[in-house]
Amino acid sequence: MKLNPIETHTWVPLTIQDESESLLKIVSAEKEFLTDDEGNVWIDAISSWWTMIYGHRHPKLISALQNQLQSLDHVLLAGNIHEPAESLSKAILELTDFDFEKVFYSDNGSNAIEISLKLAIQYYENHPNYKPRSEFLVFSNSYHGDSIGAMNVSGKNYFNRIFSELRFPTKEFPAPNCMNCPWGKKPNDCHTECLSDLELAIKQKEYAGIVMEPLVFGANGMLFYDPKVLKKLRELATYTNTLLIFDEVFTGMGKLGEYFAYQKAGVKPDLLVFAKGLTGGVLPLAATLVSKSIYETFVSKDPYKAFFHAHTMTGNALACSVGYASVTLLREVGLSQVKELESKLKTYALQFQKKMGNSVENVRVIGAIFAFEWREPVASDEYLNPIGKRIKNSLRKFHILLRPLGRTIYITPPYTISDDSLAKIFLALESTLTTFLEPEQD
Ligand SMILES: Cc1ncc(COP(=O)(O)O)c(C=O)c1O
Repeated sequence: MKLNPIETHTWVPLTIQDESESLLKIVSAEKEFLTDDEGNVWIDAISSWWTMIYGHRHPKLISALQNQLQSLDHVLLAGNIHEPAESLSKAILELTDFDFEKVFYSDNGSNAIEISLKLAIQYYENHPNYKPRSEFLVFSNSYHGDSIGAMNVSGKNYFNRIFSELRFPTKEFPAPNCMNCPWGKKPNDCHTECLSDLELAIKQKEYAGIVMEPLVFGANGMLFYDPKVLKKLRELATYTNTLLIFDEVFTGMGKLGEYFAYQKAGVKPDLLVFAKGLTGGVLPLAATLVSKSIYETFVSKDPYKAFFHAHTMTGNALACSVGYASVTLLREVGLSQVKELESKLKTYALQFQKKMGNSVENVRVIGAIFAFEWREPVASDEYLNPIGKRIKNSLRKFHILLRPLGRTIYITPPYTISDDSLAKIFLALESTLTTFLEPEQD
């Protein structure tokens, strides 16, 4: 028997609290599969919110957790350090070729963003040559999390509209959109016209940072854009001594085919935030990477220059051990798995486009992401576009778990997904969408 969100003791998040919503009760998971309490096996086509990059319960991650449990579970990280945190920090810094100096841990993407914002503000306070700065430049289609600060640097939309009074100052610009460029440009003749307003603004006033999801705006529409945009932002940030903050909560840990999207773009930020795949989805852990020049402004005997921020579970030893195993897997096999998956997705994308014709738009692939827009008669990119829910519910018949973003449908499978499961996802998508094209029966 299916439960609805009103019947559960748990407040199920990001779910309309209504009796007509039916919840899946998941009892076990392995690889890309989830099993519900009725014995149905589902394909987790979005890797449980993009976290399970190696599938569920990967043996190497589980054994790292079990080994760590034999010695140290948790100790507060203020005034202490432990081997799992140190090994993971070194491994992460190696992934970045030591582009950064320090790793600051937290337990989710929103907190890791908050940390980057606070570090940026305090950097200007601490720096002997700069005046204080606290305003950020942000983009309309971005999503950086649901805590107040992270929400504040996200694009304004119906999710966060109620809390607009709580906003600290930001200046928002339309998100670059190379899929449907408002200037009608293609990357080869683009002169980053979409950044001209931002360029004017940043030259007129001092900002603490530019906050950006590099190459892909994820939760707010899976918009892909060209590295040129990031190169121009880097140039403007350097010219005005503004910090460049990349949110790789989604794009980090190999999602786009390199360890990090900034490496794919060839543009180094001053602060880098990532989470999700860091522990392969096994435990909550996030990281904010800090450049040498920022860190140096905090090195002082003066307590007023110290960064007073921590969470109770910061640097949890179990999470760090699993994180280390996850980073090791990424280096050993993960990145090549993403590249292989990307080429399979590209083949599927071509076939899909051919079959679905002009009922779909912007069929696109980058790394482990496949996305497209369902061409709705009433074009609406809003998450609440009912077509998303209709598609999600129809796919349930095929036991495929997806969460469309309105009319934007995407899959982000584990890097390890089997050919059979991938074929099932595309077959289900095509069968479902084809029925939507048929005229409705009276
Ligand atoms: C780009 C990006 N930043 C931040 C977040 C927030 O992360 P969390 O849900 O772990 O707080 C998300 C979550 O989807 C995200 O996609």
